Amino acid sequence: MPTTIREIQYGSDEYRQVIRLRFEVLRKPLGLAFSEKQLAKEADDIHIAAFDGAELAGCIILTPYNNGKIKMRQAAVLPQKQRQGIGRLLTEFAEQAARKRGFSEIILHARENAVQFYEKSGYQVTGESFIEITLSHRAMSKFIA
Ligand SMILES: CC(C)(COP(=O)(O)OP(=O)(O)OC[C@H]1O[C@@H](n2cnc3c(N)ncnc32)[C@H](O)[C@@H]1OP(=O)(O)O)[C@@H](O)C(=O)NCCC(=O)NCCS
Repeated sequence: MPTTIREIQYGSDEYRQVIRLRFEVLRKPLGLAFSEKQLAKEADDIHIAAFDGAELAGCIILTPYNNGKIKMRQAAVLPQKQRQGIGRLLTEFAEQAARKRGFSEIILHARENAVQFYEKSGYQVTGESFIEITLSHRAMSKFIA
Protein backbone atom coordinates (compact mmCIF):
# COMPACT_ATOMS: atom_id res chain seq x y z
CA MET A 1 0.00 0.00 0.00
CA PRO A 2 1.39 3.46 -0.85
CA THR A 3 1.97 5.67 2.20
CA THR A 4 0.34 9.09 2.17
CA ILE A 5 1.09 11.84 4.65
CA ARG A 6 -1.35 14.64 5.37
CA GLU A 7 -2.49 17.09 8.00
CA ILE A 8 -5.51 16.07 10.04
CA GLN A 9 -7.90 18.17 12.12
CA TYR A 10 -7.69 18.44 15.91
CA GLY A 11 -10.84 16.88 17.40
CA SER A 12 -11.73 14.85 14.28
CA ASP A 13 -12.29 11.07 14.17
CA GLU A 14 -8.81 10.76 12.65
CA TYR A 15 -7.36 12.74 15.57
CA ARG A 16 -9.02 10.33 18.02
CA GLN A 17 -7.52 7.41 16.07
CA VAL A 18 -4.11 9.08 16.29
CA ILE A 19 -4.47 9.46 20.07
CA ARG A 20 -5.01 5.70 20.32
CA LEU A 21 -1.85 5.10 18.25
CA ARG A 22 0.13 7.59 20.37
CA PHE A 23 -1.11 5.88 23.52
CA GLU A 24 -0.16 2.38 22.28
CA VAL A 25 3.29 3.36 20.96
CA LEU A 26 4.42 6.16 23.29
CA ARG A 27 2.57 5.93 26.61
CA LYS A 28 1.27 2.41 27.37
CA PRO A 29 4.78 0.85 27.41
CA LEU A 30 5.64 3.36 30.18
CA GLY A 31 2.44 2.76 32.14
CA LEU A 32 1.34 6.34 31.36
CA ALA A 33 -1.72 7.91 29.72
CA PHE A 34 -2.77 11.27 28.23
CA SER A 35 -4.90 13.54 30.40
CA GLU A 36 -7.78 15.58 28.99
CA LYS A 37 -5.84 18.68 30.04
CA GLN A 38 -2.78 17.65 27.97
CA LEU A 39 -4.94 16.96 24.92
CA ALA A 40 -6.86 20.24 25.28
CA LYS A 41 -3.55 22.09 24.83
CA GLU A 42 -3.17 20.57 21.35
CA ALA A 43 -5.96 22.57 19.72
CA ASP A 44 -3.57 24.97 17.98
CA ASP A 45 -0.95 22.35 17.06
CA ILE A 46 -0.34 21.01 13.57
CA HIS A 47 -1.36 17.34 13.48
CA ILE A 48 0.18 15.15 10.79
CA ALA A 49 -0.64 11.51 10.07
CA ALA A 50 0.67 8.74 7.79
CA PHE A 51 -1.77 6.33 6.16
CA ASP A 52 -1.08 3.03 4.40
CA GLY A 53 -4.10 3.00 2.14
CA ALA A 54 -6.91 3.80 4.60
CA GLU A 55 -5.03 2.48 7.62
CA LEU A 56 -3.34 4.85 10.06
CA ALA A 57 0.38 3.99 10.31
CA GLY A 58 2.04 6.87 12.15
CA CYS A 59 1.89 10.46 13.29
CA ILE A 60 3.82 13.54 14.32
CA ILE A 61 2.84 16.89 15.88
CA LEU A 62 4.21 20.42 15.55
CA THR A 63 3.72 22.92 18.35
CA PRO A 64 4.59 26.56 17.55
CA TYR A 65 7.21 27.82 20.00
CA ASN A 66 8.87 31.23 19.70
CA ASN A 67 11.44 33.21 17.66
CA GLY A 68 10.79 31.21 14.49
CA LYS A 69 11.05 27.92 16.35
CA ILE A 70 8.52 25.12 16.25
CA LYS A 71 8.63 21.98 18.38
CA MET A 72 8.28 18.54 16.81
CA ARG A 73 6.86 15.92 19.15
CA GLN A 74 4.92 12.67 19.46
CA ALA A 75 6.62 10.95 16.49
CA ALA A 76 5.20 7.45 16.44
CA VAL A 77 4.91 4.64 13.90
CA LEU A 78 3.01 1.37 14.48
CA PRO A 79 5.54 -1.27 15.65
CA GLN A 80 4.90 -3.56 12.67
CA LYS A 81 5.50 -0.63 10.27
CA GLN A 82 8.68 0.79 11.83
CA ARG A 83 11.97 0.91 9.90
CA GLN A 84 10.18 1.11 6.54
CA GLY A 85 10.68 4.81 5.91
CA ILE A 86 7.42 6.17 7.37
CA GLY A 87 9.12 8.12 10.16
CA ARG A 88 11.33 9.90 7.63
CA LEU A 89 8.30 10.77 5.45
CA LEU A 90 6.59 12.22 8.55
CA THR A 91 9.59 14.38 9.52
CA GLU A 92 10.04 15.60 5.92
CA PHE A 93 6.35 16.51 5.68
CA ALA A 94 6.54 18.26 9.07
CA GLU A 95 9.57 20.28 7.92
CA GLN A 96 7.68 21.42 4.82
CA ALA A 97 4.60 22.30 6.88
CA ALA A 98 6.75 24.33 9.30
CA ARG A 99 8.63 26.09 6.48
CA LYS A 100 5.37 26.95 4.72
CA ARG A 101 4.22 28.70 7.91
CA GLY A 102 7.43 30.73 8.17
CA PHE A 103 9.28 28.81 10.90
CA SER A 104 13.05 28.53 10.50
CA GLU A 105 14.08 25.99 13.14
CA ILE A 106 12.62 22.74 14.40
CA ILE A 107 13.46 21.77 17.97
CA LEU A 108 12.62 18.51 19.70
CA HIS A 109 13.23 16.31 22.72
CA ALA A 110 14.39 12.94 21.41
CA ARG A 111 14.23 9.77 23.42
CA GLU A 112 17.81 8.54 23.68
CA ASN A 113 16.95 5.48 21.54
CA ALA A 114 15.59 7.68 18.73
CA VAL A 115 18.52 10.15 18.54
CA GLN A 116 20.10 8.31 15.60
CA PHE A 117 16.80 8.37 13.72
CA TYR A 118 16.74 12.18 13.90
CA GLU A 119 20.49 12.46 13.17
CA LYS A 120 19.89 10.61 9.90
CA SER A 121 17.52 13.44 8.90
CA GLY A 122 20.01 16.18 9.79
CA TYR A 123 19.01 16.99 13.39
CA GLN A 124 21.80 17.77 15.84
CA VAL A 125 22.01 17.19 19.57
CA THR A 126 22.10 20.55 21.36
CA GLY A 127 22.48 19.61 25.03
CA GLU A 128 23.05 17.14 27.82
CA SER A 129 20.63 14.30 28.48
CA PHE A 130 17.69 14.86 30.81
CA ILE A 131 14.74 12.85 32.07
CA GLU A 132 11.24 13.37 30.67
CA ILE A 133 8.27 11.00 31.14
CA THR A 134 10.68 8.66 33.01
CA LEU A 135 13.04 8.32 29.99
CA SER A 136 16.42 9.81 29.10
CA HIS A 137 16.09 12.45 26.35
CA ARG A 138 18.33 14.78 24.34
CA ALA A 139 17.40 18.20 22.99
CA MET A 140 17.94 18.35 19.20
CA SER A 141 17.37 20.91 16.47
CA LYS A 142 17.50 21.51 12.72
CA PHE A 143 17.45 24.77 10.76
CA ILE A 144 14.96 24.48 7.92
CA ALA A 145 14.94 27.97 6.40
C1 LIG B 1 11.33 6.56 16.00
C2 LIG B 1 10.29 6.28 14.92
C3 LIG B 1 9.23 7.40 14.88
C4 LIG B 1 11.02 6.24 13.55
O1 LIG B 1 10.11 5.91 12.53
P1 LIG B 1 10.45 4.74 11.47
O2 LIG B 1 9.37 4.72 10.46
O3 LIG B 1 10.73 3.49 12.22
O4 LIG B 1 11.82 5.32 10.85
P2 LIG B 1 12.34 5.20 9.32
O5 LIG B 1 12.09 3.82 8.84
O6 LIG B 1 11.79 6.32 8.51
O7 LIG B 1 13.89 5.43 9.56
C5 LIG B 1 14.71 6.38 8.90
C6 LIG B 1 16.15 6.01 9.20
O8 LIG B 1 16.37 6.05 10.62
C7 LIG B 1 16.75 4.75 11.09
N1 LIG B 1 16.09 4.55 12.38
C8 LIG B 1 14.77 4.50 12.63
N2 LIG B 1 14.55 4.33 13.95
C9 LIG B 1 15.76 4.24 14.52
C10 LIG B 1 16.20 4.07 15.87
N3 LIG B 1 15.32 3.94 16.87
N4 LIG B 1 17.53 4.03 16.10
C11 LIG B 1 18.43 4.16 15.10
N5 LIG B 1 18.08 4.35 13.80
C12 LIG B 1 16.76 4.39 13.53
C13 LIG B 1 16.28 3.77 10.03
O9 LIG B 1 17.01 2.58 10.07
C14 LIG B 1 16.51 4.59 8.77
O10 LIG B 1 17.88 4.57 8.44
P3 LIG B 1 18.40 4.45 6.91
O11 LIG B 1 17.96 5.70 6.22
O12 LIG B 1 19.88 4.34 7.07
O13 LIG B 1 17.76 3.22 6.35
C15 LIG B 1 9.58 4.91 15.11
O14 LIG B 1 10.55 3.88 15.04
C16 LIG B 1 8.83 4.79 16.44
O15 LIG B 1 7.65 5.07 16.49
N6 LIG B 1 9.54 4.34 17.49
C17 LIG B 1 8.90 4.15 18.80
C18 LIG B 1 8.47 5.46 19.42
C19 LIG B 1 9.58 6.48 19.52
O16 LIG B 1 10.67 6.19 20.03
N7 LIG B 1 9.30 7.69 19.03
C20 LIG B 1 10.25 8.79 19.06
C21 LIG B 1 10.07 9.57 20.29
S1 LIG B 1 11.26 10.88 20.40
